[in-house]
Amino acid sequence: MKSITATLFAVSALASAAEPLPIIPKPVEIKTLDGHFPLSANTAIRHDRRLANEAGLLSADLAKITGSPAKTYAEELRIHLPSQIQIDLDETKSIPPSGYRLEVTPQGIRILATDPAGAFHGTRTLIQLLPPTKPANGNANVPALQISDHPRFQWRGMMLDVGRHFYPVEDIKKFIDALAFHKLNSFHWHLTEDQGWRIEIKKYPKLTEVGAWRESTPPYGNRDSDDGKRYGGFYTQEQIRDIVAYATARHINVVPEIDMPGHMAAAIAAYPQLGNSDIPGYAPKVMTRWGVHPYTLAPTEEVFQFVDDVFTEVCQLFPSTYIHMGGDEAPKDQWENSPRVRELMKKENLKDGHEVQSYFVKRVEKILEAKGRKLIGWDEIREGGLSPKATVMSWRGEAGGIASAKEGHDVVMAPNSHTYFDHYQAPAATELAKGLQYEAITGFLPIDKVYSYNPTPAALTPEQQKHILGVQAQLWSEYFKDYKKVEYHAFPRIAALAEVAWTPAELKNYDDFRTRLETILKHYDAAGINRAQPFDPPTRKTRDGSTVETSIGIYQNHWPELAFDGRPDTFFWADRELKQNDHLTLTLAKPLPAPTPVTITTGGPASKNGDKLENGKLQSSTDGSTWTDLATFNDGTATATAPAGTRKIRLLVTAPQTNWLIIHEITLASP
Ligand code: ACM
Repeated sequence: MKSITATLFAVSALASAAEPLPIIPKPVEIKTLDGHFPLSANTAIRHDRRLANEAGLLSADLAKITGSPAKTYAEELRIHLPSQIQIDLDETKSIPPSGYRLEVTPQGIRILATDPAGAFHGTRTLIQLLPPTKPANGNANVPALQISDHPRFQWRGMMLDVGRHFYPVEDIKKFIDALAFHKLNSFHWHLTEDQGWRIEIKKYPKLTEVGAWRESTPPYGNRDSDDGKRYGGFYTQEQIRDIVAYATARHINVVPEIDMPGHMAAAIAAYPQLGNSDIPGYAPKVMTRWGVHPYTLAPTEEVFQFVDDVFTEVCQLFPSTYIHMGGDEAPKDQWENSPRVRELMKKENLKDGHEVQSYFVKRVEKILEAKGRKLIGWDEIREGGLSPKATVMSWRGEAGGIASAKEGHDVVMAPNSHTYFDHYQAPAATELAKGLQYEAITGFLPIDKVYSYNPTPAALTPEQQKHILGVQAQLWSEYFKDYKKVEYHAFPRIAALAEVAWTPAELKNYDDFRTRLETILKHYDAAGINRAQPFDPPTRKTRDGSTVETSIGIYQNHWPELAFDGRPDTFFWADRELKQNDHLTLTLAKPLPAPTPVTITTGGPASKNGDKLENGKLQSSTDGSTWTDLATFNDGTATATAPAGTRKIRLLVTAPQTNWLIIHEITLASP
């Protein structure tokens, strides 16, 4: 038995070395077998009666391959099905919660799970084994295999901010589909902000009549200005119910966030008595600029009644055990300047604004507890003392999460170092060179950095690590004017997040992931998702083994080889002013077989002054000792035809310049 297992593993290791199955997140265990199952329009689904929802969703997905939804049959109809996918519940409960077993043989496909979520996850793996686009004949071969799989973490989340910008219901559903595709199971819906309140609350109609609308928005390219256009929108309770039902069917929990006591300017603009109205110069409005704003809720009984009323309606709409109260970035100045709050501080023995924040959070926790729910908040809810049962979402790095887990609180890791998908995913200069609409808030979070994240810090003992419920990525929407831009930031980094959240740490391997991602990108394209190209970190290599040397110093990692790596997004960057006779010389792996057009382009958007070559020559040589002048640089560019036999191509500086030098690429046209 032992040797059979070993052989199976060896086979699967070989298969995965050759071409890993394009499944993201990577399953816990895959055994590839010989043969395949021929899926066609004749394939039907037989399912346990309790899995009608999951069978129905799979049936609709299969139509994208075969052209028509697969017929579905409840288990007890013992009809003979010549080509079948069977979806069953495992009554022995041997499969971990949310996990599944998927078996594909030439005779059929079987998905087995302990719970409907697991069965659904099995169907998500199956659709990743199908072609991304419809084959002409509507048939597809599913490779024979056995997969046993279950999630590493129970909280696998994405947060979407609809406060700064608002997205229609259909876009939110498309977002939910994408979460499901990668077995993410938590949609944290950030519904309220200084710049817009987006959830209908029947008892307080002005929250949306007033609070959902702002007078202006900063345009792309100038965050300190105003476009002067009224902007807004909100979700009706009917629309929210529809979205929650849509997510629930896909085994995604929707966690609503009503951010308080800060980030409340829109609500306070609607009902000014909710704010610290007893301070000088009090003039709340729905905010039109980004950033942190001073308006906070007043910690009064009237406000706690408002909070209770709002959460009453929120809890009617959202079945989630966890309700997010925000709690982040609440400035304390207004409280400290408010006579009413100073009186409260005396009465409740609160020594500063942090303790007022703690008092506020504890009151909110009681409100939620009374409704049978659990409070979750950003790590600032620790300020002044954490309320007893709160769960902490750690965003300012991991420190708040680590401290909370050590104190026995549950934690969701959401650090801005690894999970803020509003940050740039490729260097800012490269992105902005494509247009102002590529502006992002800040930062640099390439996909390999997301992938590298481990949500269980070594600073925690294994026992404390059990308090890490999972991990979540954030899509703050200041710079996402439409849903296409949301997608651009979410995809493909969502794939890396999914693997961080689901796959055992010891099975993670970035190169293997990057290979699987190529097929997953095709699925995104087929689904009409406006994804970004994954940013691959530059490596110090030319495209073909040619070499590059230079007399000029190198700035950071802008190696000379990047001038001949075939990538438009990488470049050589000098680290100093240029001197006469400075050079950058390319030695080709093979001499040119025929006369070949060559172009050297210098200068680029990474530099404010352009860093173009001002005076220089493009030269060639067959032996490295005699040089032929081919062209003079003009406006940073030189083009010429290098003769057959050319071995070396050189950029030679002919006069000093104070600007540095950027060389994006030396390009050779095919002869
Ligand atoms: C946050 O980024 N303010 C949670």
